[in-house]
Amino acid sequence: MRFDTLIRQATVTTSTHQEVADVGIVNGKIASIGNLGDASAERVIEAEHLHLLPGGIDSQVHFREPGLTHKEDIESGTRAAIHGGITSILEMPNTNPNTTSAERLQEKLDSGAKTAWCHYGFFIGASTENAEDLADLEKLPGTPGVKIFMGSSTGSLLVSDDDDLRRVLRSGRKRCPIHAEDEPRNKERKALLSDNPHPREHPYLRDATSALIATQRILRLSEETGRPVHVLHISTADEIPVIEDAKKRGIGTTMEVLPQHIYFSAPECYDRLGSLAQMNPPIRSEEHRQAILAAVQRGSFDIFGSDHAPHTLEEKSQTYPASPSGMPGVQTLLPVLLTMVHRGWFPLSTVVRMLCENPAKLYGIRGKGHLEVGYDADLVLVDLKQEKVVAKPMLQTKCGWSPYEGDTLTGWPTHVFLNGTLVVENDERIPQRHAEQLEFA
Ligand code: DOR
Repeated sequence: MRFDTLIRQATVTTSTHQEVADVGIVNGKIASIGNLGDASAERVIEAEHLHLLPGGIDSQVHFREPGLTHKEDIESGTRAAIHGGITSILEMPNTNPNTTSAERLQEKLDSGAKTAWCHYGFFIGASTENAEDLADLEKLPGTPGVKIFMGSSTGSLLVSDDDDLRRVLRSGRKRCPIHAEDEPRNKERKALLSDNPHPREHPYLRDATSALIATQRILRLSEETGRPVHVLHISTADEIPVIEDAKKRGIGTTMEVLPQHIYFSAPECYDRLGSLAQMNPPIRSEEHRQAILAAVQRGSFDIFGSDHAPHTLEEKSQTYPASPSGMPGVQTLLPVLLTMVHRGWFPLSTVVRMLCENPAKLYGIRGKGHLEVGYDADLVLVDLKQEKVVAKPMLQTKCGWSPYEGDTLTGWPTHVFLNGTLVVENDERIPQRHAEQLEFA
């Protein structure tokens, strides 16, 4: 048998099994997995000491185009993605203007077709004005569905009261990712800011109760309307039993965890990083961190995302709370997760399940996320032993910084394939683009 590319003797890893095998690629798809002893190929990659995974799918990134492209754009954000072993991204609608119509979606898709380095899809934003249109909007090509901000964060998207949320949830069928923080409570608590404000106050102002109330409200409305929701970036111990209980009731609830909510904890992160650690929902105390990690370990979470949310250092240097919330992370997502594997927090199979297979499954992304014959050959070889210190020169994001700078991460991508083409090898990127618009079932 002759292949376009043959990856030899990699440790092929899925969520359910691991074996040393050869993987043959033909026409951009995985054609064969096994002992392909005498097969030949145009390109052979010897991968004895490497693990082969499906390419990562980062289902929560903010790439700032249009309107905020001094922070990031689709070109730079997707470039950061492939350098980090992420082969597909789903981008959020809080740009300027917001992605709340077919025209705005098309503009992003057109830009993606010209500039993207990895495969892409763009969420539509729910608003009180477009609620009735969402059932049609969610069916458009190139979108995985509709994102709801229940609490305001960066930008103006907001659907905060129950009647409006019902209108949005009843308009369409696809799984809705939710930013669950309670707007009235967050507003009220702004008054508690001290006279000498510091980002350390962030998890106190946007407190755990705010996240809990919003999560309880959206689960109630999900059950009432029959619309499945995906609660993004769980930040509290309190929300976990509530979502675990909803899962048992079979209302289709899923939840996401970000590595930063289990890597950092308060107050240490704010003392050391100041506003660079400021994000919504906030990084909280060690108690919350441990409860979230324990829930990852017992398999309660569905998806790892980065919530890549770049702001410039100049913007971040404003005095809290004028400093904007959010941190970049699409390029470091996989290395940080591999570092957690190295520390023994969870096995590599958990990374494959939550970063590759589940995002594809839960958003219905065709051909992606699985290391199986017939799937697209979006693949990443990783060296689980490679150590590198995160430093500015390696960062592709326009904002030019990372909260992990100075930290040694153990486990890095060495080869990244998009539809069978080797697009990044040891951090060297080929100049041609091979990215495509994602298709959603
Ligand atoms: O911290 C955050 N920043 N949380 C969000 O939900 C939005 C994001 C951004 O877009 O900056």
